[in-house]
Amino acid sequence: MTNHIFDSALSKYIAQAGYCSRRQATELIKSGKVTVNGKIVTTPFTIVEKNDVVYVEKNQIIAAKKIYILFNKPKNLVCSVSDEKNRKTVSDIFTPFFSERLYPIGRLDRSTTGLLIMTNDGQLTQRLSHPKYEVAKLYQVSSELAITKATLDTLINGVPLEDGFMKVDQAYYPTSSKKVVCVVIHSGKNHIVRRLFAELGYPDIKLDRSEYAGLTKKGLRTGEWRNLTEQEIKTLYQDDKHTTLETEQKEKEVKKIKKDRNKKYYARL
Ligand code: URA
Repeated sequence: MTNHIFDSALSKYIAQAGYCSRRQATELIKSGKVTVNGKIVTTPFTIVEKNDVVYVEKNQIIAAKKIYILFNKPKNLVCSVSDEKNRKTVSDIFTPFFSERLYPIGRLDRSTTGLLIMTNDGQLTQRLSHPKYEVAKLYQVSSELAITKATLDTLINGVPLEDGFMKVDQAYYPTSSKKVVCVVIHSGKNHIVRRLFAELGYPDIKLDRSEYAGLTKKGLRTGEWRNLTEQEIKTLYQDDKHTTLETEQKEKEVKKIKKDRNKKYYARL
């Protein structure tokens, strides 16, 4: 019964396993009907780990299994659990494989492709969706019209949108083509990248999210998915690890430039 990212309060653990409601679980615990590893526990907020053995009277409580999937979403899937127009959703993709209903963390537009985490872990969803933890995302933007350098500078300096002033962290050409741009952004606002580009004269862009919170598409073709590793899940639960690899690379470059400049400066003294 120690602290771990998979820990849960005892009452929540029993409720999430589907045994009863959280309020009923609290009553059962208080009335001495619940044991953890063979000992009666009467405090509903007692933290249980995933390997603890919990019984309510003679019934063993098996914790709901948490699932974490990294999905490379194709076009034409709605990013929600269900759709009022009955269009296919990202959750539908996983129903043949899991008895648990998985939902996406955050949203990608129906026409946007790229990385999405699918899970049944409400705690992680809340964390990663909270503005305080907004994670870095790398989008590749493709346009029929060449995107000017002035546009990239404006994206970095900030663009007034109807819901406020918005800046991207980085905007650069990944190749020699001016029709493809990479944008790193923390904001999770709806349609944020499309709205920024539309405001700057590019209403028709193709969008692909190639990094999310440091996770990349490596080994995942469009439409493919994999389970996250325990280490990746732990990292998602840490506060300061939500850079993208590209961001880390740029930060390293900036550090090196500063170091070299300092060296030159001190060499002159
Ligand atoms: N910004 C957008 O405009 N669309 C997406 O799908 C994701 C970010």
